[in-house]
Amino acid sequence: MFTESMLESIKKVEATRAERMGMEPRRMTAEEKSELLKAYHPDYRPEGFKEIQIGPNKGQKAPVELANLLHSNSRLLDENLDLSKIDYDVDVLVIGGGGAGAAAAIEANEAGANVMVVTKLRIGDANTMMAEGGIQAADKENDSPVQHYLDAFGGGHFAARPELLRRLVMEAPDAIRWLNELGVMFDKDEDGRMVTTHGGGTSRKRMHACKDYSGAEIMRTVRDEVLNRKIPVVEFTSAVELIKDDKGQVAGAVLLNMETGDYLVARAKTVIIATGGAGRLHYQNFPTSNHYGATADGLILGYRAGAPLLYQDTIQYHPTGVAYPSQIFGALVTEKVRSIGAMLVNREGEAFMHPLETRDVSAASIIRECSTRAMGVQTPLGSGVWLDTPMIELLHGEGTIEKRIPAMLRMYMNYGIDMRKQPILIYPTLHYQNGGLEIGGEGFTKTIPNLLVAGEAVGGIHGRNRLMGNSLLDIIVFGRNAGKAAAAKAKEVTLGAPNLNHIYEYAQMLKQAGCTEAGVSPLLLPQYTRHER
Ligand code: FUM
Repeated sequence: MFTESMLESIKKVEATRAERMGMEPRRMTAEEKSELLKAYHPDYRPEGFKEIQIGPNKGQKAPVELANLLHSNSRLLDENLDLSKIDYDVDVLVIGGGGAGAAAAIEANEAGANVMVVTKLRIGDANTMMAEGGIQAADKENDSPVQHYLDAFGGGHFAARPELLRRLVMEAPDAIRWLNELGVMFDKDEDGRMVTTHGGGTSRKRMHACKDYSGAEIMRTVRDEVLNRKIPVVEFTSAVELIKDDKGQVAGAVLLNMETGDYLVARAKTVIIATGGAGRLHYQNFPTSNHYGATADGLILGYRAGAPLLYQDTIQYHPTGVAYPSQIFGALVTEKVRSIGAMLVNREGEAFMHPLETRDVSAASIIRECSTRAMGVQTPLGSGVWLDTPMIELLHGEGTIEKRIPAMLRMYMNYGIDMRKQPILIYPTLHYQNGGLEIGGEGFTKTIPNLLVAGEAVGGIHGRNRLMGNSLLDIIVFGRNAGKAAAAKAKEVTLGAPNLNHIYEYAQMLKQAGCTEAGVSPLLLPQYTRHER
């Protein structure tokens, strides 16, 4: 399956393995990390960004592809919709059918609210389902939420919003308990204690996992709970615009039936945006580990209605996406592969970095190895470095890969690569948006009454870089909280007359800013059509 030149390089990896097994590569100093990031992390490439021309974040930079969507008009500008014709009338409208949306819906339902989930694909078609390595929580004797806070705060370059990060770490143990009681099958030892491992940037072993399909297992469980509770889920239906009322409150959303093209009106006393990430915008032409619907829709909806973004200019490139074979280019190779012993090695067989540096540092280091240092291995779509997976079984015994990371083993076996015997080729892949809509500690946006945000669409929980396992955690912590808060708030809301005035005002601002070439947004589905030249 590997090419001749790859096989030549594998011989060098094998030749240095015994020596590498006995050593731990040095960690970089803070100064080295800072220089490395500035020189090689994609967030520092000016050509990848553009200045936002209108709205609350005017003058700040955003990835070009996101800025273009922010500079686009509403799909509804010429539709003349009758908002008094109501198709759905609920207390809580959850937009998004991933982990955050499901957790929010469960808690809103538990609180007695009339809640509905709307999702543009099917419930569970989400980044949650694709998550592999695990979920962090400081619930062991040698650990504490304070320690968890310090790790995440440092890993995020001290930029996390303290009130959000505090909530994340303090409520983490209860999130694990909640998931466990709902039926998530976490890895446990013979005494029934959770098995925990390190992730990049963690000072304690606090990663709880379900082998290497942690997200799929969590999504399976919360989706079942939504369905068991008979919470209405409207699938293949996108929210294309928020509705506001004459008091400036959010009052629901306009939905698009993706199959018929019909518009529908959902009236709601509170709305939770839980639309996930943006990987399918392929910033700077990176491949992505994200699911098909990750097109930043919630950010567009919220921003057009007047909610500010936070840290929209910081993106996470997961260090280990598949570089080869091409059929799975960009797919996630979980960080757990490194946390259980595999080293990152260049084409000469040298371990060029500590395998568990934080993600931004790891990604930048791999990019340097493959560019300036010319120490990458050529692949049909670019280059990559080795992740020396046979080390795992040498360190922990035969059968460890099958037991701990079976999904990885199968993914590569499908293409004739046995990662127990041969290393695998990886390169950074677009994985996560660190930024998103700004919220306060209770999950509400600061500018639009009764509008909440949860999950990857939130900015500020992780600062400017997220640690592994804190995303599965945040969808549960902030999803649950948003559901509870929205249900409580809905009890006191009286809606006024609905309107879409903000989309016309936005169009006016675009015109005044000279953004006349704009298309329409949200994007809803990625554009992979090849255009004839
Ligand atoms: O590497 C991983 O398994 C990804 C985890 C995460 O993004 O939290």
